[in-house]
Amino acid sequence: MPASFSAQFIIFGLHINKIKNLNQKNMAELTPEHAKSYIEANKDRFLNELFELLRIPSVSADSKFKGDVRQAADYVKAALLKAGADLAEVCETEGHPVVYGEKMIDPSLPTVLVYGHYDVQPADPYELWDSPPFEPVVKDGKIYARGACDDKGQMYMHIKAFETMSKNGGAPYNLKFMIEGEEEIGSENLAVFVEQNKEKLNADLILISDTSIISTEHPSITVGLRGLSYVEIEVTGPNRDLHSGVYGGAVANPINTLCEMIASLKDENNHITIPGFYDKVEELSTAQRDAINKAPFDLSEYKRELGIKDIEGEAGYSTLERTGIRPTLDVNGIWGGYIGEGAKTVLPSKAYAKISMRLVPHQINDEITELFTKHFESIAPDSVTVKVTPHHGGDGVVVPTDSIGYKAAEKAFEDAWGKTPIPTRDGGSIPIVSMFQEVLGLDSILMGFGLDDDAIHSPNEKYGVFNFLKGIETIVRFHQRFAEMKK
Ligand code: BES
Ligand code: MN
Ligand code: MN
Repeated sequence: MPASFSAQFIIFGLHINKIKNLNQKNMAELTPEHAKSYIEANKDRFLNELFELLRIPSVSADSKFKGDVRQAADYVKAALLKAGADLAEVCETEGHPVVYGEKMIDPSLPTVLVYGHYDVQPADPYELWDSPPFEPVVKDGKIYARGACDDKGQMYMHIKAFETMSKNGGAPYNLKFMIEGEEEIGSENLAVFVEQNKEKLNADLILISDTSIISTEHPSITVGLRGLSYVEIEVTGPNRDLHSGVYGGAVANPINTLCEMIASLKDENNHITIPGFYDKVEELSTAQRDAINKAPFDLSEYKRELGIKDIEGEAGYSTLERTGIRPTLDVNGIWGGYIGEGAKTVLPSKAYAKISMRLVPHQINDEITELFTKHFESIAPDSVTVKVTPHHGGDGVVVPTDSIGYKAAEKAFEDAWGKTPIPTRDGGSIPIVSMFQEVLGLDSILMGFGLDDDAIHSPNEKYGVFNFLKGIETIVRFHQRFAEMKK
């Protein structure tokens, strides 16, 4: 071997070692500045990758998109592997698959399980979108697409936070990812998956970004989610559609009857009239209510943004209380009779409605569904028959604020946003979270970064590029803070 070759070889070897040492140094201390500059340097790629995922119409509710839902699962699996997972798999269920991935560093270190969902709500009505729902675009610093915020954009922040750590020395502990494809349809098969994989999902904590912050000026951490009971109603009158002149006035019209029955479910104070409905509702102390009402909230801006002249809700409670700590009953859809062009004089045989009840902690969705069913059947006049069919549901959640996980999340926000996050109770539901508590015995930290006006489930859903990038930074800080605090 010529001397010059071996000399070069040695120099080359030394060089490699030097790089290794540098990386090892970073491993010990991925500084906030370094993480920020890595995110900044890679932001265009991060966004382009998210756009690829947003282009896949993974609508879980509609079987027409079954293949797309699977494609999204495959995409998430590949993204986890690229970001540094040593294992990622698409796990079959009776329905849409669950993507599981992990990076085990040392079994004696803490483990955080990240949960998110890659399925999205249907994009209908398409004509109300300013740009096509599955062709993401950035306008005024916002990403517009179905799933941009709920939950692809928020879930993907976790994969990029993981990459940021992997590429800069590694995560400070073990990470597991469970990303499902049925959140928007009730997570029934994920519930089975969780029951069957308790060992595999063993962790210290679950971390979720699928909720919102008050505003970018007022970051917050979600400490409560509402539960959900959802029913479908069928009211039947005569055995066929009738001529509304020949029979009208003498035979019950099931649409009229359904409307009267629904109207009777609330009194003049917007209090729900179902007997027993409020029995388990937790009455908060004045101090707790004051804390909720201290959160920044601008009623005129709220009304302006929604295009309404006035608000409405349960007497004696503020808007933040009405959405955070009080249960609700709402008709989500109602139909029956003739709805085609022109007029058809018909007295319909059937009428239908879908009703959701948002529940607060301690109310149990199965119990509420039963109370509803009994009551609704009992108020039906003999002139009609009523059938109530329950749909998926879930129980509410309260997150304790004195845990290490919460404190780490609080610190992470302080580091990345320079502000202490305000604890808030969100009105939405993530039914699987209460199950994580029951089946896995694990608390969840709800560290979401969406905004209430991101129009999730609506046309023109959006997510701020700022929220996306800041979210990644905050998640990296969370892992570092939690690692420190668990020592
Ligand atoms: N991410 C939302 C829930 C959410 C949104 C919580 C905003 C807090 C703030 C989730 O994807 C969702 O839409 N959940 C459904 C329940 C499900 C059973 C369809 C909901 O809340 O309607
Ligand atoms: Mn969601
Ligand atoms: Mn949703």
